[in-house]
Amino acid sequence: MSHRPRPTWSRSGSWSRGWSGARLRARPRSGARPGSTLRVRVKAAWAAFGLALLAACGGGGLSVVDASRSAGSYRWVLPADFPIPRVPDDNPLTEAKAELGRHLFYDPRLSGNGTQACASCHHQDKAFTDGRIVPRGSTGEAHPRNAQGLANAVYHPTLTWANPSLLSLEAQLQVPLFGDNPVEMGVNEQNQATVLARLRADPLYTNLFAAAFPGVADPIGWPRITQAIASFQRTLISADSRYDRYLQGRESLTAQEQRGLQLFFGEKAECFHCHSGHNFNDQVVHASTRVLDLPFHNTGLYNIGNTGDFPEPNQGLFEFTNNPADRGRFRAPSLRNVEVTAPYMHDGSVPTLEAVLDHYAAGGRLITTGPFAGDGRLHPNKSDLISRIDLNAQEKADLVAFLKTLTDENFLRDPRFANPFAAR
Ligand code: HEC
Ligand code: HEC
Repeated sequence: MSHRPRPTWSRSGSWSRGWSGARLRARPRSGARPGSTLRVRVKAAWAAFGLALLAACGGGGLSVVDASRSAGSYRWVLPADFPIPRVPDDNPLTEAKAELGRHLFYDPRLSGNGTQACASCHHQDKAFTDGRIVPRGSTGEAHPRNAQGLANAVYHPTLTWANPSLLSLEAQLQVPLFGDNPVEMGVNEQNQATVLARLRADPLYTNLFAAAFPGVADPIGWPRITQAIASFQRTLISADSRYDRYLQGRESLTAQEQRGLQLFFGEKAECFHCHSGHNFNDQVVHASTRVLDLPFHNTGLYNIGNTGDFPEPNQGLFEFTNNPADRGRFRAPSLRNVEVTAPYMHDGSVPTLEAVLDHYAAGGRLITTGPFAGDGRLHPNKSDLISRIDLNAQEKADLVAFLKTLTDENFLRDPRFANPFAAR
């Protein structure tokens, strides 16, 4: 029944089963409506890989954090309110692996027909979204959902819009690589040897793989490609927006931005309940996490014919749990860099931030004509936190102005995250 792309590749073994360290149980959070929140216990083995080494980057309270105890360990620079990211024990994060991963992320030779890279749908200048309503895969198939940003993806315990079973970056990237519903990069049993041969033929990769996986004979294969791309993604930290600098006392916000901030974090607009914490969302995992809550929410975007239906195939968490209470529930996205990630929502159906604010102010979306007509405001699964808000035009503009303070210009241009082939 599910229309989700699923990994069809099995040779990569445990990747497709997600993390070894956690068990996923469907258990409603006490006080929450059934089906809204899954809870996961994380084994202690995950914990505390990172080590805060020094707080030496000037007045802002930034720390340099060592990602692993391996030689050549990658170092993040994190503000005080950013927890230490989690790195799986079996894929220590090193500079060399991230650098190999960056090349693979930008390399169209990694797709079956040689036309599409991860970066084709994840553009750095758009915080790794693509500006389209929905993208097309390498063979032209439309994806049913909007391409997500990758900033701070290392902190997401579940990946993609509503899939509670994709629990690691290693597992997630099997979907665009090998998935056939829809075909994205289109690697399959017939062409996978050709794809690897393309990489083996380039001396650049001989060197990059040797540096990333020293002492490993013949490292060019799917497990190591997977580890390297996941490693690159763990370096994509966005923590230097004007809002971050404001928190650190390094920059001020305008009066309008401060009014928007008050609204965002206040009980009138209620945004912060779901877009909270350092990453402006409510599903977060880090090195010290022991128990995870995995909430998914229905924000009243659709209610086709007032039957509770969403446009096929995007029924949200329901596709995985078959629980009618989960219809239309999605993971709240991080709002970092949201200024550059339009269009919005899981299906790209809201074109601008102003339109997002209209949606929330109305307490859901009323669609009056066409195949999706229905009153989202009356959806039976709609979150109790979404209801009509009395926002005047000035207050909506204030909220939009605040959201734009979350843009991190340095992240959007950081040469460590940029296309390495463009410079050659
Ligand atoms: C054809 C366009 C396309 C390509 C190619 C593509 N992606 Fe994506 N990506 C998407 C879409 C669409 C989503 C949302 C998927 C969903 O909800 O099912 C997504 C989601 C993700 C996510 C989840 C982010 C989050 O917040 O949970 C990650 C991570 C990701 N992609 C990484 C990659 C990597 C790595 C590659 C290359 C191996 C890649 N993508 C290739 C379109 C693409
Ligand atoms: C009940 C939890 C909840 C509350 C409260 C909430 N949001 Fe959201 N928000 C979500 C979810 C879930 C989505 C994704 C919905 C979807 O795609 O169907 C979302 C999507 C968004 C998006 C689109 C982001 C993107 O990348 O597509 C923006 C912008 C946003 N919310 C801003 C706000 C603002 C501003 C407020 C306060 C007025 C707010 N949200 C209140 C849960 C919430």
